[in-house]
Amino acid sequence: MSPTPPTKLVIDRATKYYETKSGRVHALDNVSLDVSDHEFVSLVGPSGCGKTTLLWSMSGLHDLTSGEVRLDGVPVHGPNPNIGMVFQDANLLPWRTIQKNLEFPFEISGKKPDPHRLLGLMERVGLGGFGSKMPRELSGGMQQRASIVRALSFDPSVLLMDEPFGALDAFTRDEMNMLVEEIWLETRKTIVFITHSIPEAVFLSDKVHVMSARPGRMAKTFTIDFPRPRLLDITQTREFFDVVNTIKAEIEHQPRAPKAPKTALAGATQ
Ligand SMILES: Nc1ncnc2c1ncn2[C@@H]1O[C@H](COP(=O)(O)OP(=O)(O)O)[C@@H](O)[C@H]1O
Ligand SMILES: [Mg+2]
Repeated sequence: MSPTPPTKLVIDRATKYYETKSGRVHALDNVSLDVSDHEFVSLVGPSGCGKTTLLWSMSGLHDLTSGEVRLDGVPVHGPNPNIGMVFQDANLLPWRTIQKNLEFPFEISGKKPDPHRLLGLMERVGLGGFGSKMPRELSGGMQQRASIVRALSFDPSVLLMDEPFGALDAFTRDEMNMLVEEIWLETRKTIVFITHSIPEAVFLSDKVHVMSARPGRMAKTFTIDFPRPRLLDITQTREFFDVVNTIKAEIEHQPRAPKAPKTALAGATQ
């Protein structure tokens, strides 16, 4: 039996309230989760159950009301070069070339980018030769490739991804899922991935954590043991459908969230 990998990321009784003009929103309630080193986990659950809130607290960029996030045993507060993030929107600066966009985080942190590393990453994700293009010249999928390079450019040990492919067409999404799996197998980053697509979560993950409706709580964890590397063919198998349907049933079985105050329906921007 292979030894259990050490715990990389610990979410310890995370609770979050947002104060809004129309009252308090209880977004997370006592959520605890351990993510092992090199593990690929997905968070799924109904809209508004606190997935984004939880991810931002893991990044150290948003505070919890109570509880703690620890990376390698150290509490996470503030930006951390060991944590990379990818969002649904690639968030590229429209007036800068792709190359200049990728250099931007280095400029603002006063560090020098390693041009060979950046070039290698661009080639790895299929962006070789696109450095001089402007973001508007790239498709949504290509823009997301750039945001993956940007997230990996500091060589973080943890990658947090919030519905990164939610806005892409199905074909591009499949391609991006293959790319993420390959990169994960090559780099062995610890990845926490949020998605609304249960097939995507099952295809990519070692574990799928289901959250319940607001206030978000951990409801159930599914271990996905399809062998790796996984090819898209598995998504057409009976076994795959069975796992997807079991997880869908678990989500549907969760109680519905109470109505949030009107002003609180925006995304987690704090
Ligand atoms: N900045 C904010 N201010 C007030 N309420 C917020 C804020 N961000 C999120 N919320 C509320 O917190 C709950 C969880 O939101 P979120 O973490 O975005 O959920 P999910 O990502 O699962 O859809 C929702 O009810 C949402 O309306
Ligand atoms: Mg969200």
